[in-house]
Amino acid sequence: MSRVNVITEAASERIAGYVTLSAAQIERAFLPKSQQRNRPDPLPATLLGQLAVDLAFQAHGHATSLLLFALRTALVASETVGSMGVVTHPLDDGVRGFYGRFGFQDLPFDPRRAMFVRMVDLRKSFRG
Ligand SMILES: CC(C)(COP(=O)(O)OP(=O)(O)OC[C@H]1O[C@@H](n2cnc3c(N)ncnc32)[C@H](O)[C@@H]1OP(=O)(O)O)[C@@H](O)C(=O)NCCC(=O)NCCS
Repeated sequence: MSRVNVITEAASERIAGYVTLSAAQIERAFLPKSQQRNRPDPLPATLLGQLAVDLAFQAHGHATSLLLFALRTALVASETVGSMGVVTHPLDDGVRGFYGRFGFQDLPFDPRRAMFVRMVDLRKSFRG
């Protein structure tokens, strides 16, 4: 089960975009070898399940806003519910570059080619 956060156009109340978050797990063996030691298996994580912006509203920074909102929400939640980081499954290779800008890296041994950003790195980015 996931929570969906929606943004709407104020005048029409039309949905412009949305992002979903839910609890997830990552197999320890999917992490870079250097991050596998002394970790539980599987690791608790937060899933950024879907991020989408309606065609009519694209290229105005809405995906960026939704993603930053989701990352900040996941970071705050991780202070009370354990999560090692945020994981997502990009739809195609183009979108991998978009996520890469926000610190997401490939989970090198995951056959589904998920991307992942650690909470410790999000904390540094958001809190300095
Ligand atoms: C990908 C998507 C969410 C981007 O929405 P958007 O609101 O247009 O994105 P933004 O305006 O916030 O764009 C931010 C930056 O990312 C870039 N970007 C947008 N879509 C991209 C894509 N598919 N691949 C690579 N870069 C992309 C933009 O060019 C922009 O760069 P700039 O800051 O240099 O101008 C939207 O195209 C979409 O909903 N696509 C279909 C679903 C999808 O692919 N979701 C991704 C999750 S798997």
